[in-house]
Formats: sequence, C-alpha cells, structure tokens
Amino acid sequence: MDTSTIRLETERLILRPPTPEDFEGWAAFASDADVMRHLGGVLPRSTAWRGFIAMAGAWQIQGFAMFSVIEKTTGRWIGRIGPWMPEGWPGTEVGWGLIRSAWGKGYGVESASAAIDWSFANLGWDEVIHTISPDNAESKALARRLGSRYLRMDRLPAPFELDVEVWGQSRAQWQARSARSEAK
Ligand SMILES: CC(C)(COP(=O)(O)OP(=O)(O)OC[C@H]1O[C@@H](n2cnc3c(N)ncnc32)[C@H](O)[C@@H]1OP(=O)(O)O)[C@@H](O)C(=O)NCCC(=O)NCCS
Repeated sequence: MDTSTIRLETERLILRPPTPEDFEGWAAFASDADVMRHLGGVLPRSTAWRGFIAMAGAWQIQGFAMFSVIEKTTGRWIGRIGPWMPEGWPGTEVGWGLIRSAWGKGYGVESASAAIDWSFANLGWDEVIHTISPDNAESKALARRLGSRYLRMDRLPAPFELDVEVWGQSRAQWQARSARSEAK
C-alpha cells in the first residue's frame, strides 16, 4: 500500500506515517522513564526497533497505524499518535505518546483531534477508544479534553496483559462536538 501521500497538517504539527529517520526520536522516547511509565517501562534500542517496525508494518498491512508527529517550527519528531488496533485489542483505539519536552503545550489534543478526524473519515469506525492505565492522570486529562469518557475496564492482550480503563466516544458524539466547535 502506498502511504507516502498521507499527511495531516494542524496549526503547529505535521502528522504522517513513519519514515526511517524517525527511529532516533522513537528510540529516545522509548528509553525515557517518564514517558514509558504507563507504556510498559523503558525499552532497549533493539526492542524499540521492533515496535517502530511494527508501526510501519501496520501502515502497510492494515492501511493505518499511529502517525509520526512532527513539530513544524523545529522539524523534530515529537511522538506518535493515531489509530491502533493490533490483534486481540479491546477496540478501535486512537492512542498517543509524546516526548517529555513536548508535554504541556496542547500538542496532544491538537494531534489526537486530527487523528480522530482522519480515523472516522477513512476507517469506517463507529467508536474511538483510548486504553489507559488507571493511574495515568495525564492521559485521562487528554481523553477528557477530547470529549471522551470512561466506558469500562478491559484487558490488553499479550505482551502487555494489563487491566486498563477504556475511555472513548462514538462517531456521532465526535461529530456533534466538532460541529459545536466549528460553530463557535
Ligand atoms: C498523555 C500525553 C500525550 C498528554 O500530553 P499533554 O501535553 O498533557 O497533552 P495536551 O495536549 O492535553 O496538553 C494539555 C496541557 O498543555 C497546556 N497547554 C499549553 N498550551 C496549550 C494550547 N495552546 N492548547 C491547549 N493546551 C495547552 C494545557 O494547559 C495543559 O497543561 P496542564 O496539563 O499543565 O494543565 C503525555 O502526557 C504523554 O505523552 N505521556 C506519556 C505517554 C503515555 O502515557 N501515553 C498514554 C498511554 S495510555
């Protein structure tokens, strides 16, 4: 599948499928204990590479996966955000993770909003979910800012095997919210 033309632009960010030069940022992200606290803990570079390649492979095989998020002013890779549905996953997720120095700027809500718009427009999803560790306050705050709410508890499949809160909203709820914010 040719994913090279997929590119979303927001006020401050570019979202596009991963390219080989993103791996340095990805590996640094995966080695940061703050960032990885709720993502299974820090990973050695070789394990991070497998995750990176899985993301690129999902774009090829499934036609979607998380986007690399690029900060327009610097051109740097600041994280990966977007649709994600590996085998056995509890639903149609838009997930997120940003490097530590990109937190607190509203980049999470900016990029996740664009990724949710794209997912509903292109993937035929009826619902978007976010699987969140019960003690991940930052992630729940972002879910809330997006208009998502707590739905249920569920369990992530191997290799995670973790109990998680499932947050989310329906396509209709997202569209109603988008219509309200456009009317403002
Ligand atoms: C979850 C995560 C992406 C949230 O990042 P974030 O920067 O808090 O996300 P948001 O876009 O919601 O940013 C909101 C913050 O930016 C601030 N902000 C600054 N400028 C802003 C702007 N122009 N617009 C909106 N918010 C802005 C807000 O005040 C808020 O700060 P606060 O948290 O101190 O109140 C980040 O914490 C992360 O990557 N965590 C590690 C990975 C992880 O756990 N992933 C989730 C697994 S479920």
